[in-house]
Amino acid sequence: MTNQMMTTGQQLGRRSWAEPWKIKMVEPMFMTTAEQRGAALGEAGYNTFLLKSEDVYIDLLTDSGTSAMSDRQWAGMMLGDEAYAGSRNFYRLESTIQHYYGYRYVVPTHQGRGAENLISQAVIRRGQYVPGNMYFTTTRLHQELAGGIFADVIIDEAHDPSSLHPFKGNVDLDKVRALIDRESANNIAYISLAGTVNMAGGQPVSMANVRELRALCDQHGIRIYLDATRMVENAFFIQEREEGYADKSVAAILLEFCSYTDGAWMSAKKDNLVNIGGWLALNHEDVYERARNMVVVYEGLHTYGGMAGRDMEALAIGIEECVQDQHVRSRIGQVRYLGTLLEQWGIPMVQPIGGHAIFLNARAFYDHLPQSAFPGQTLAAELYLDGGVRAMERGVVSAGRDPETGDHRYPKLELTRLTIPRRVYTQSHMEVVAESVKAVYDRRSETRGLKMAYEPEYLRFFQARFEPISG
Ligand code: F0G
Repeated sequence: MTNQMMTTGQQLGRRSWAEPWKIKMVEPMFMTTAEQRGAALGEAGYNTFLLKSEDVYIDLLTDSGTSAMSDRQWAGMMLGDEAYAGSRNFYRLESTIQHYYGYRYVVPTHQGRGAENLISQAVIRRGQYVPGNMYFTTTRLHQELAGGIFADVIIDEAHDPSSLHPFKGNVDLDKVRALIDRESANNIAYISLAGTVNMAGGQPVSMANVRELRALCDQHGIRIYLDATRMVENAFFIQEREEGYADKSVAAILLEFCSYTDGAWMSAKKDNLVNIGGWLALNHEDVYERARNMVVVYEGLHTYGGMAGRDMEALAIGIEECVQDQHVRSRIGQVRYLGTLLEQWGIPMVQPIGGHAIFLNARAFYDHLPQSAFPGQTLAAELYLDGGVRAMERGVVSAGRDPETGDHRYPKLELTRLTIPRRVYTQSHMEVVAESVKAVYDRRSETRGLKMAYEPEYLRFFQARFEPISG
C-alpha cells in the first residue's frame, strides 16, 4: 500500500510530471449516498449509459465529447461565422486537417458515425468483405448496413489481455493475404484500419505495420481507410516504442502514418478536443464526390456537415493543440498513473496500459462468473454502487448478436473500461477511482452477475436493461 511519506513520483522511481494546463473555471461535482446510488442504478436497469449525469461522481464512461476546451478554443467560439454556406470556419478547419493529417479533400460531419456512414455507403458494394484490425461497434454496424461483411485481421496477441506486445493493434498481414486468396481482391471493399484500437484496450499500430500493409494493398489495388479517432495517441506510442521515431514530433509521425492511407474518418470528440464534431478526409476525387453528395442528405451542406461555425473553429484549434507533444504525454501519463496504482494492487487489466483508458479484465476479475452473466456489465454496475464512478462495459453486451445466426457474440475480451476524459480530472481523482476499484475487487466473491431484461435491436449496449441474478 501507499507509503504516505513519499510522493507518487518517488514511489514510481521517477520525478513527477504535472498536467500542462491550469484551471481557470471549475464545475462543482457532488457525491451521492450509497442509498441514492442503489436507487439510481435500479432505475437505469443496471446500465451505466442510462444513469443521469447528476447522479455520477467521477464520470469515466467515455473520453468522447467529454474533453475540457482551452481558453483559445472558447475564444474561437466567438468567431463563429454562422452562414449557411461557405462559413469562414469551414475553410480554416479544412486547411488545418490538410496540414496535420495530409489528406486532400475534407467533408465535415456531426460526429464520427456520420463520417462512418458516408464512407461505408460510398465505397462498399453489397457482399464485399471489410477486413479490420478488430471491430468497433458503430464502425462495423455502418459497414454491415452498407452490405459489407466484417473480417477481423488483427494479430492474435490483441485478443490476449496479458500479452505485452508493444503494438497489439497491428494487422496480421497473413490474415489479409489469406482473405485475398480466398475471396479475391475485387471482393474486398477496403481495409478498415484503426489507430489505437479501442476494443483491444487502446493498443497502437506500428509504422512498420502500416507501411507493409500499404505495400501489400498496392499489389492488389486495395485502398486503406483509417479510423483516425485516436490516431494522435497512436503517434505518441510510435514515438515512444518504435525505433527511429524517438526524435520525431507527434505531429510529424501523425502525418507520415496518414500518408500510407487513402483517407480517414474521425470522431473529433476524442483526440481533437471538442465536445461535438467529426470529419471525413479523402485523397481520391471520385470517393470525395460521392461523400460530398451524400453529406447533404444525412448531415447538412458540405461546408458545415451538422456543425455550427463556432464548433468548426473550436475543432480547428483543438487539432492544433492535440498534436503538441506535451499534451499527449500528459494525457497518456494520466491514464498510466491510474493503471500503475491498480497494477500494484494486482487488479487484472489489459496490458500494456493503452492510450485512452484502463480496461479492467472483468473475466479474470470475476473468474467465478460465466460470460453469460455479463461480468463486464456487472463490474461497471458495482463500481458505480461503490463510489459513484461511471465506467462502461466492453464485452458480450457491446459485441451484440451475429447477424446470420442471431446468437450472442462471445468476444474473448470481456472488459470494463475506465475512460479518461482529456484535461478534465486531476491526479487526486485518479486515486479516488483506484481506491474504489480496489474495494470492489476485495468483495468480488459476493458478486453474482446480471441477466438481460430488455434488448434493443441496434447497438444494444447503449439502451439494454438488466436485473441482478439472485440467490
Ligand atoms: N471510431 C472509434 C474508434 C470510436 O471510439 C468511436 C466512438 C467512433 C468511431 C464513433 O464516433 O461516437 O463520434 O460517432 N467511440 C465512443 C467511445 C462512443 O466511447 O468509445 P462517434
